[in-house]
This record gives sequence, structure tokens and C-alpha cells, in this order.
Amino acid sequence: MSDGRDILKDKLAQSALGGGQKRIDAQHAKKKLTARERVHLLLDEGSFEEIGALVTHRTTDFGMADQKFPGDGVITGYGTIEGRLVYVFAQDFTVFGGSLSETHAEKICKVMDLAMKTKAPIIGLNDSGGARIQEGVRSLGGYADIFHRNVMASGVIPQLSLVMGPCAGGAVYSPAITDFTLMVETTSYMFVTGPNVVKTVTNEEVSSEELGGASTHSTKSGVSHLTAPNDILAIKKIKKLFSYIPQSCDDFPIDIDYAIADEYRPELKSIVPQNANQPYDIKDVITGICDSESFFEIHEQYAENIVVGFARIAGQSIGIVANQPMSLAGCLDVNSSKKAARFTRFCDCFNIPLLVLVDVPGFLPGTDQEWNGIIVNGAKLLYALSEATVPKVTVITRKAYGGAYDVMNSKHIGADMNFAWPTAEIAVMGAKGASEIIFKKEIKAADNPEQKLQEKENEYKALFANPYVAAERGFVDEVIYPEETRRKLIRAFRMLKDKEIELPQKKHGNIPL
Ligand code: HXC
Repeated sequence: MSDGRDILKDKLAQSALGGGQKRIDAQHAKKKLTARERVHLLLDEGSFEEIGALVTHRTTDFGMADQKFPGDGVITGYGTIEGRLVYVFAQDFTVFGGSLSETHAEKICKVMDLAMKTKAPIIGLNDSGGARIQEGVRSLGGYADIFHRNVMASGVIPQLSLVMGPCAGGAVYSPAITDFTLMVETTSYMFVTGPNVVKTVTNEEVSSEELGGASTHSTKSGVSHLTAPNDILAIKKIKKLFSYIPQSCDDFPIDIDYAIADEYRPELKSIVPQNANQPYDIKDVITGICDSESFFEIHEQYAENIVVGFARIAGQSIGIVANQPMSLAGCLDVNSSKKAARFTRFCDCFNIPLLVLVDVPGFLPGTDQEWNGIIVNGAKLLYALSEATVPKVTVITRKAYGGAYDVMNSKHIGADMNFAWPTAEIAVMGAKGASEIIFKKEIKAADNPEQKLQEKENEYKALFANPYVAAERGFVDEVIYPEETRRKLIRAFRMLKDKEIELPQKKHGNIPL
């Protein structure tokens, strides 16, 4: 008589295959890994423990009673990455297109609940045709159960999303609430309504890729923080991201051992050009300051006028927010403000210190910006940096003009250490604009107005286009040579390691959204 092992063996084999070998082969043709392959690639070898492998859906309508696949289209469980506990769910497109049934949702919720109870990150591998059409409202309810958990977990545990296939309809809102979304190029897309609905409603003809592919969301909408050319590189990238972040809001990122040596960096001396209007690449400053090969950029192709990302400084994980003079002269605009604010808040949630590099001529002028709400969006960044309680350090490399000076982690909004390079210019506005306003009458009355303007510009520059007025006031703690920046920052971040401040007690703030 059988002890039941053969039945279990059979069911597990079916679950491992998803909807069937035929479909797995078809996926390989599209260069997509199967859900199970993805999980195994993500986690340390042999560490995966599956939960709910035998769960099946309960639908009987539409002939579904005969179509049951153990696992019901999603693999859930836990394992480790570099020895650290992590929960995972991976939707299996080979079972009903990875669509979300009531039970599929319950499985995801179960691992989300465990992640919250044990304060460990959760990674979702999304590949789904959305709500399981045959289940109607039960499936919609399942989505909402997940969304609610995403919101409750926000700021408590890191939540990462990989989009590795379709992610359509309301399904997009779970990745959108999570902290970071990575999309695989050409095989994934995300949209609230697909090309057919778009055509019906607006008469626009658009492909899935153009509407919601990885390139669209990483350049135009900013929905995707990271992209990768295929599943394997996507998983590698998410593991790299994982290395900079802690387990939860109660934890700290892991430091890598580092013995302080000669931290003098002469290559930083010549990055800022003599001519204040000439651009330079702020990423050269970042790589000059940070540990070798440690900079991991987020949102690389979106709002390129601000650069954000993780890095290490003497082994310590930090978040960097930096104006990029190579794009829009480093001005703050709507998208760059949103990008930097969101990143700042992630770092603050998870105890990652912030380094802000400033070279900003101000907010980008124009009707486009004003009508798209530069006022509230600029305020987001101001709010986020002001509210952050993690160690906050600023280096002004060149321009810090106008309101953008205040916003970019000035002393006044709670930065802990503010450094400036001798090339820093801290003023209400640039010399030309300022002279044209305050010396308007004098310039107009002059025999040679152009010469007069130049004279006045020089006068203004001598007075304000430097870091010393701010340093005299203590708004800048120290004017430092560029080549000494790394050494100064290592010491500053070590000094600030045990920083603790409390925000006023409240239910929650009301960030201008
Ligand atoms: C049930 C689904 C399904 C779904 C796909 N399948 N989506 N089954 N519910 N939502 C099944 C198909 O019937 C098919 O089964 C198998 O999955 C593979 O699908 P194909 O269409 O053959 O694959 P492909 O050509 O690659 O197209 C993939 C797709 C397409 C673009 C995702 O299937 C599609 O458009 N699906 C519907 C997408 C959608 O509108 N979802 C609802 C969104 S609204 P067989 O047995 O034939 O192999 C939503 C609301 C959520 O999600 C709201 C939350 C608040």
C-alpha cells in the first residue's frame, strides 16, 4: 500500500513544471527564464524554501474545475541572498498567463505577512496578465489585499519589484508602491490600459513597447528605476542593489571592512572648469569621492539633470543626490525634484546616510515648468531633505543659487556638515542677472552700458561669487580643497554614525504630493 509519497511526488513535479513543459520551451524561445529558474538564480544556492506549492484555485466556472495546476501560477517562499533572509514571489506566466486569482493573491499575502513579522525584505518577480478574468471580483479583491500590504510595509521593510513580462491594469500599482522597480528590456511592459483600449478611447496607435516598455518607463515616466537587457542581468542588478540596503527600518546597511589609507584624490582638483558656464560631469566627482566601483546609479536615464544612487565611502553604504551640470546646466525641474525626493525618502526610511553634491543655478524657468507644478514638486525635495533624520552631508562644488541653495541640503534645513570647494558661488542669482536688476538705472545712464554691466558683474562676483560669505556666517562649515574631499567625508560620516534626532510627534506629515 502507498504511504502517499507517490502522490506528493507527482503533485510537486506538476508544480515545478507550471502549466506544462511545452510553454516553458516557448518562454525560452523569448529568452525568458521560468519563474522557478528566476527564484533559484536570485537566491543563494540551496536556500529556497517554498511555501504553498500545492495550492490550487477554487474556481469552477468556465470549465476551470478541470484546469488546476499546483501552485496556481505563483511560486512563493523564502531564502537568502548573501546569507541575508529575503521573501520572494515569482509569477509563472505558464499558468493562466500568470494571472492573479484569489488563491494566487493569498499566497503572495502570506509571504508579505511573514516578511513583516520577521522584518525582512520582499522581492516580487512580476510576470502576469493581470486579474484572473474567470474570477471577477475575487481577483480584484486579491489585488487590493496585496496593495494594502504594500502600503503597510512601506518604510518598514524594503520592497523590490522586478517586472519580467506583462504587468497590466491594476497590477501595476503593487510595483508602483514598492521602493524600486526594475524592468527587463523588450520582454516586459507596464500600463494601466493597453494599446487596444488606448486606440478605442483616444484613437492613438501605439505599440506595447512604446506605451509601457522598459525604455519608456526608464526615460519618460520614471516608473522604472532600473533596466536590464535580460532576466539574468536583471537578477544580478537587483542583488547588487540589495547589497546597499538593510533588512528593515530597525536595521542598518552592512558596512564593508575598510582600513583608512591615503584618501587624498588629486584627480578631483581639475574637474570643475575655470569658466563657470562650462559643464562638467558630476559623476567624475562621485567616482573620485567614493570607493572604487561602488557607485550604483538609480534612474540613470530619467531626469538626468540630477544624479541619484548608492555608493560606499570607506565601506559605509550611502545615498547620493547630485546636480548634474551636463544636463540643463544642473537646474532643478519637476522630474528631477520628484526623482531626488523619492530617493531621499527611501534612504531616510532605511537608515542610509545622504551625501548631497551641489552645483545648481536654480529652478528651471518657463511655462512648461510652472504649469506642471514646479512649485509643489520643488517643495517635495525641500520637504524630503528637510525631514530626513539620517546623517546629511553637503558639498557645494560650484553654483548654489537662489531657492535651490536652500533646497539642496543647506545647513538651514538640517544638514549636519556643509563643505564648499573654493570654486563655490553662493548667491541669490548669477552675476549677470543680478547686476541687470540692481544696477539697471546706472547701466542705462552709462555712456557704454555694456562696459558698465561688465564692471558691475565683476563687482558682484567679487562680493558674492565665492563660498566665504556663507563660511563667515557658519552656513558652510568648512571650505575645503577638492582633493581633500574624500578624506573629509569619510571622517564626517564616521563622526555622524550615531546621530539620533526625533521629529515632532505627529500622525504623519503632509508632503506636497
Ligand atoms: C486569465 C489569462 C489572463 C488573465 C492571460 N491569460 N491573461 N487568463 N486571466 N488575465 C491566459 C490566456 O488565456 C492564455 O491561456 C495564457 O494566459 C497565455 O496568454 P496569451 O494571450 O496566449 O499570451 P500572450 O500572447 O503572450 O499575451 C499576453 C497578454 C494577454 C498580453 C498578457 O494574455 C492579455 O492581454 N491578457 C489579458 C490582460 C488583461 O487585460 N488583464 C486584465 C487587466 S485588468 P491559454 O490557456 O490559451 O494558454 C486588471 C485589473 C486589476 O488586471 C485591478 C486591480 C485593482
